[in-house]
Amino acid sequence: MRLDQLSAAITLICYAVLPCYAAGHGRRAVDAYAPQRATCPTSSIVRPASSLATGEAQYITARKVIADPALASWLKKVNDTFDTSLLPTLGLAGSSGGYRALLNEAGILQAMDARDSNSSVHGLYQAFIYHAALSGGGWLATSLAAWNWPTISYLQKTVYEPNLQNGLLLPGGFYAPLAYAQTLADVTAQAAAGYPVTAGDIYGRLLGYNLFPGPDGGVALTMSGLTSSANFTGHKVPYPIITSTGTNASSSGNCTEPPDATQYEYTPHEFGSWDKGVNSFVQMSYLGSNLTNGMVHGKCASGFDNLGFVTASTSNVFGFLCDPLYSSAGDFASLADALQSAILEVAGPASSGLFNEIPNSFLEYTHASAVSSAKLLTFGDGDLSLQNDPIKNTFLQAEAQGLTKMPTIPPTSTFVAEALGTQARFFGCKQPNTITIVWLPLVSYSSSAGSDISTFDIEVSEANTDSIIRNGNLIATQNNDLQWPTCLACAISMKTAKSLPAACDACFAKHFVS
Ligand SMILES: *[C@@H]1O[C@H](CO)[C@@H](O)[C@H](O)[C@H]1NC(C)=O
Ligand SMILES: *[C@@H]1O[C@H](CO)[C@@H](O)[C@H](O)[C@H]1NC(C)=O
Ligand SMILES: *[C@@H]1O[C@H](CO)[C@@H](O)[C@H](O)[C@H]1NC(C)=O
Ligand SMILES: *[C@@H]1O[C@H](CO)[C@@H](O)[C@H](O)[C@H]1NC(C)=O
Ligand SMILES: *[C@@H]1O[C@H](CO)[C@@H](O)[C@H](O)[C@H]1NC(C)=O
Ligand SMILES: *[C@@H]1O[C@H](CO)[C@@H](O)[C@H](O)[C@H]1NC(C)=O
Repeated sequence: MRLDQLSAAITLICYAVLPCYAAGHGRRAVDAYAPQRATCPTSSIVRPASSLATGEAQYITARKVIADPALASWLKKVNDTFDTSLLPTLGLAGSSGGYRALLNEAGILQAMDARDSNSSVHGLYQAFIYHAALSGGGWLATSLAAWNWPTISYLQKTVYEPNLQNGLLLPGGFYAPLAYAQTLADVTAQAAAGYPVTAGDIYGRLLGYNLFPGPDGGVALTMSGLTSSANFTGHKVPYPIITSTGTNASSSGNCTEPPDATQYEYTPHEFGSWDKGVNSFVQMSYLGSNLTNGMVHGKCASGFDNLGFVTASTSNVFGFLCDPLYSSAGDFASLADALQSAILEVAGPASSGLFNEIPNSFLEYTHASAVSSAKLLTFGDGDLSLQNDPIKNTFLQAEAQGLTKMPTIPPTSTFVAEALGTQARFFGCKQPNTITIVWLPLVSYSSSAGSDISTFDIEVSEANTDSIIRNGNLIATQNNDLQWPTCLACAISMKTAKSLPAACDACFAKHFVS
C-alpha cells in the first residue's frame, strides 16, 4: 500500500462526510488490528459439534452457582410461595433492529439490573446465565463486554448519548478524520499481513469508535480476550454469544440469504455452527488460522477475532441494500458506498466484498460438509436469512436441523390476526421437553414515542436515546403492570417448580400462546 493510495482512500471516504484536515495523524507503530502469527497448541484447534466447548461448560457451571441465588431471591420477593428448590437456566436473547434494538434492549436490561433500577423486575439480570444477541442487539452485548459490563446508566451517559448523535458516519464526532485515517491504516496492515479485508472490516472499526472505550475505538479488544476480563473470570455476567449468518456467493444477486443459511456463533471460547452442514467449532483465539482437515500449516493466526470485527459480522446488513425495499436506507447506502470505495483503494478489486470474511479453518474437514471446499467463509447480519422477529423461521430452521429444544412458534399470520405483538407472550408452556420463551415485543409505551425508529437510522439525538431507553424500561415491566412480576415468575418456574401459585392460571390465560 503506497502512501498516495492511502491518502486517496482517505480523501474518498472523507469526501462523503467532511474535510480531512487531520488525515494521516494518529498511526501506531505496530498496528493493533492486524493479526499476529502465534505458535499453535499441540492439541487440535477444531472439533466436531458434539458437545459444549469445555470453556463454555465450565463457565456455565460456575455461573449457575452465582445466578441461582439471585433468581431464587427474585422469585421469593415476587411471591414467597414460589418453589425454588430446582431452578432453570435463564438466557437473554437480543434481537436485531439497529439503534432501535440497541436502545430498547438497553432499557429492558437496565430495568432488570439490581445495580441500576428499582423496577418490579430488578435483580433478574443478575440471574441470567446466557446473553445471546445479533445485529443491533449484538451492539448492546459487545459494548457491555468491551466496557467490562458496567450499568446501562453509565453506558448511556458515556457512550450512547455522546456517540449515537454523531452516528456511524462520524465516529468520534469532531475527530472523525483521525478515526478514518486510523481505520484505513488498520485494514491496510491486516491486508499486508496476508489476511482478507473487506468493507466489513472498516465497518467494524467504525463501530468500535462508536461503542468501545478508548481514543483508538477499542482496537485491541478481541472476543477471546473477554475470557480475561475481570467480571468474566469471576462469572459475574451472562455468557455472551453473538450470531452471524453464513453468506454464499452462489446466492449473489439475491438480497437476502435463503431461510436455511448457516447460523454461526461467536463465543469467548469458540467460533462455528451447530447446523448440519458445518457442525464444527474452532477455538476463538486462533480464528483465521489456515487448516486442512483439522491440521494446522505453519503458524496459527492470533488476534483475528477483533471485537469490532465480530460486531460488524453480526450487523453487516450491506447485503440487504440491493433490495428496493431498502432504497430509503439512504444514509446506510452512502455508508456502504464509502466503505466499498475505501476498501477498493486499500486492497484492490480482489477484496471489494461487502461481507465479513474469515479464512476457513474447516477446509477439507469431514464434519463440515457444506463448507469443506471453501477457502474463505463470508458472513452477514445475523438476520439476513429471516432469523428475526417473530422468530417463526428460527423455529422452522431449528426443527429442520434436528434441534428439538425450540418450542412451536405460530406463523406470522397468527401474530397479525391475534395481535400477538401487543404484549409479552409465552411459548412452549405445554411442551415439557422444550425451553420456555418469554417474548417481549417492541411496544411504544411512552407517548413521546419515537421508540420505533428505522433499523437504518444511523443517528439518534441525546433526547431520543434517553426516551428509547425509558421505553425499554416500560417493556421490561409491561408498562408497570402490577401482575407482570408474578406472571414472569410463573413462566420462569413452570418447568422446574413442583407446584405453582394459583395466580399463575390467570397469567397463562393472558400470556400463553397455544
Ligand atoms: C432504589 O431505591 C433506593 C431507596 O429509595 C435508592 O437509595 C436507590 O438510589 C434507588 N436505586 C436506583 C437505581 O434508582
Ligand atoms: C464488573 O466489574 C466492575 C468493577 O469491579 C463492577 O463495578 C461491575 O458492577 C461489574 N459488573 C457486573 C455485571 O457485575
Ligand atoms: C493462509 O493461506 C493463505 C493462502 O491460501 C496465505 O495468503 C495466508 O498468509 C495464510 N495465513 C496464515 C496465517 O498463514
Ligand atoms: C434467490 O432466491 C430465490 C427465492 O428465494 C430462489 O428461488 C433462488 O434459487 C435464489 N437464487 C440463488 C442464486 O440462490
Ligand atoms: C452454497 O450454496 C450451494 C447451493 O445451495 C451449496 O451447495 C453450498 O454448499 C453452499 N456453500 C456454502 C459455503 O454454504
Ligand atoms: C402469593 O401466592 C399465593 C398463592 O397463589 C396467594 O394467595 C398470594 O396472594 C400471593 N401473594 C402475593 C403477594 O401476590
